[in-house]
Amino acid sequence: MERPTVTESTLSAVLQPVATARGLPNAHYVDPEMHQLEREKALFDNWVGVAFGKDVREPGSAMPVDFMGQPLLLVRDKAGKLRVFQNTCRHRGMILIEEAGPIRGAIRCPYHSWCYSLEGKLVTTPHVGGPGINIAPEIVREELGLIEIRSHVWQDIVFANISGKAPEFGDYADTLLSRWREFEKPVYHGGPESSFKLEVNCNWKLAVENYCESYHLPWVHPELNSYSKLEDHYHIINSGAFSGQGTLVYNPRLDDTGRKFADFDGLSAKWDKSAEYIALFPNVLLGVHRDHTFAILLQPVDHQTTIEHVEIYYAQQSSLGDDVADLRQKNAAMWRAVFEEDIFVVEGMQRGRNGLKFDGGKFSPAMDEPTHTFHHWVATQLSK
Ligand code: FES
Ligand SMILES: [Fe+2]
Repeated sequence: MERPTVTESTLSAVLQPVATARGLPNAHYVDPEMHQLEREKALFDNWVGVAFGKDVREPGSAMPVDFMGQPLLLVRDKAGKLRVFQNTCRHRGMILIEEAGPIRGAIRCPYHSWCYSLEGKLVTTPHVGGPGINIAPEIVREELGLIEIRSHVWQDIVFANISGKAPEFGDYADTLLSRWREFEKPVYHGGPESSFKLEVNCNWKLAVENYCESYHLPWVHPELNSYSKLEDHYHIINSGAFSGQGTLVYNPRLDDTGRKFADFDGLSAKWDKSAEYIALFPNVLLGVHRDHTFAILLQPVDHQTTIEHVEIYYAQQSSLGDDVADLRQKNAAMWRAVFEEDIFVVEGMQRGRNGLKFDGGKFSPAMDEPTHTFHHWVATQLSK
C-alpha cells in the first residue's frame, strides 16, 4: 500500500474556507503511522481529557490511567489537590500503581520499594546504599521525585497536557470558559447509572466530527428530532479549539407528573430553553443544560477503535435524591440511546474511508461548518 504522508498539498486543501475545503484524507483515519503523528501533534501537544475527578474523590486515592500508551497516575493528596504523574518509578522504570484504590502511607514501587509521597517526593529508598543502608550519596532524593504531568481540572474533567507545550488551560479554553461562565459551579455526578462506556470501531476524530453537527438529526435521531428539530439548532464556531451546536428548545419530558431536576442557580433566561453541545478539541465532548451536564472523553485505543467514557452530572445535590432516582435512570437511558444511535454512522464513515478514491469529502457550507472547523484545527496542528 502506498504510504500516506502529511503533505502541504493535502493539508492546504483542508485549510481552505468551508465552501471550497476538502476533508482530511483517508490516511488520517486508516493509517496507524498517521495515528501516531496525530497522537503527538493533535493530542499530546494540547489539553486532552484523561479521566474524571470523581474517580479519585477521597484524599489519598490513586488511579492509573493509560492514555494512548502513556502510563499516567492520578493522585488526590491529603489537601484534596489532584495531581497527574507519570506512573513510572524513577529507579528502573517499573510501573508504580496497577489498580485504583487508596494509598496507604506512600506510593510504593513493588520492585525495590522506593516510596514516594502523595505530592510525588521520593521519601524512602531501602537498602539503596547496601543492606541496611537506606541512603547513598549518588541517590539525591530531591532530584528523583515523580515526574508530574501538567494537569487542570474543569467541571470534574481531568485534563492533561502530556508534552507540556500547550498554553495555560485558561488560555486554551478561554472562549469556551467565557461562553459557559454561568455553568462555572459545582456539579454533582448522578451515580452508577450516570456512568457508561461505549466502544466504537472508528477513529476518534469521527466521533468529534459527528458530535459537533446537527445536520444528521432527522435521520439518525428521529426521537430527539421529534421535539428538537433541525431548524431549532444553531452552530457554534470558534477559531480556537472548539465547535458545536445548540438547540433552542431544550424541554425534557422525563415525567408526566411534573417532577424535574433542579436547575443551576442564577442562569440567564437564554438557558430556559437552550442547551449546547460542544466538542473541546481534541477529545472532550460536552453538553450543558439548565439542570444537568455531561461529558464524553474519547479514548483513542488505536487508529480505528475508540472508547467513549460518558459521565452525567446534575446541577444540584437535590437531583441525587431517591425521589428522582427514576428520572436519573430515564435521563441516562435517553442519552445512552442517543449516543448509541450515532454508532452506526461513525463506524460507517470509518469503513467508508477504505474506499481508495474517497477524496476527503465535500462540506455543506450551511450545515457542516462546525465539522470543517475541527478538520481545519487538526490540519493546523499537523502543520505546526
Ligand atoms: S524500579 Fe522502582 S524501586 Fe526499583
Ligand atoms: Fe448524533
